[in-house]
Amino acid sequence: MSIALETVRAGFARRFGGPASIVARAPGRVNLIGEHTDYNHGFVLPMALDLEVMIAGQARTDNRVRAFAEQFNDGADLPLDGLTREAAHPWMDYIAGVAQQLTQGGYRLPQGADLYITGDVPVGAGLSSSAAVEMAVLKLFEGLYGFTLDDGEAARLGQRVENEFLGISSGIMDQFASRCCRAGHALFLDCRSLALEHVAINFADAALVITDTCCARRLSGSKYNERVAECERAVAGLCEMLGKRGGGGDPQSAPWRGQETGHNRETGHNGETDHNKGTHLRDFSLAALEEARDRLDTVAFRRARHVISENGRTLEACARLRDGDAPGFGALMNASDHSLREDYEVTSPELDAMTAIARLLPGCYGSRMTGAGFGGCAVHLVQTEHIKQFSIRLMEDYQLATGIEGRLYSSGASAGAEWAKV
Ligand code: GLA
Repeated sequence: MSIALETVRAGFARRFGGPASIVARAPGRVNLIGEHTDYNHGFVLPMALDLEVMIAGQARTDNRVRAFAEQFNDGADLPLDGLTREAAHPWMDYIAGVAQQLTQGGYRLPQGADLYITGDVPVGAGLSSSAAVEMAVLKLFEGLYGFTLDDGEAARLGQRVENEFLGISSGIMDQFASRCCRAGHALFLDCRSLALEHVAINFADAALVITDTCCARRLSGSKYNERVAECERAVAGLCEMLGKRGGGGDPQSAPWRGQETGHNRETGHNGETDHNKGTHLRDFSLAALEEARDRLDTVAFRRARHVISENGRTLEACARLRDGDAPGFGALMNASDHSLREDYEVTSPELDAMTAIARLLPGCYGSRMTGAGFGGCAVHLVQTEHIKQFSIRLMEDYQLATGIEGRLYSSGASAGAEWAKV
């Protein structure tokens, strides 16, 4: 826990003039590999951070949600039966969105609530501050009103807040990581079946370092949706090539069949199976993509090449993590970053500077952008004995190269969302 319980309780009392009855927390996340694969029904490997959102709450009696966000020094007050987006308080959208989705799903929030929100997940840095708010407020409502969602349902609810309330076509990774991660572990998630495995992070001589370019993500919402549409275009072209436009997907013919749960890892990631049926890029191999090259515009082809190869890298990285193979894991991080830069085009000049500098420093096994991209953070795997010097030199050289002061976050792998009575 990065913020003391007492600080949150005191904040609530100061703001609302009485005690809170529940405190909930939910962490931000860093994705180690498997980027822009979740909405393509692929694989991801995030871990939860010590950076977190904490919310203290108390039930009300007048069907209103009153909230105060310490990070923005701003308060908002909405009726439960008229939850809309508030241009003046954009942070409140996540609270209103969760309350609205709960109500629509038949969960009762009988009297509304007072909420005091604080936290240290940087906003707009690609570490999922929004999913952390969603999952923290959801936990708080669960604690306050005595119902429990299963983890998959909780993550999907958060995703619907993004998709339906906020209009961003994001996948399920961030909410799942914030809800379900385990301390000391990364979370390997199959974003189609939602099957998951907690994989211990046990590199003998290496640890993860997270750095922020301190350039907020630019146009991330619209560019993100553009990438989602480009992937859909690639799927349409692939289906057309195979003479089966649309039609239900057939997980039995997916190129990753048998690998999802970790067995059959030796077969590599582009098995020569029958990929005639598919609904998402998850269902196609690089060989099928190559066959369809003439039917796809170059942009759609390159986007698909990233996603399909990234799924393979993620499965492979998971195996490297289980084996504690830091050089192998780092090499896959570098390959992922290359693909995100050249084929998916979601890095930025500052991210490219950060990762290029990092790779040249002693002890760096691998370096890549993390999250949606277009700005935000990078994650590096570094030999333990070099971490101190690595961090100092990376910050210095990044500033020299870009004129921007970067930031360093030190964080272990923390646990997912929880609530407690106070
Ligand atoms: C954002 C989205 C996630 C995922 C990543 C990219 O964080 O919220 O669903 O798509 O970008 O991997």
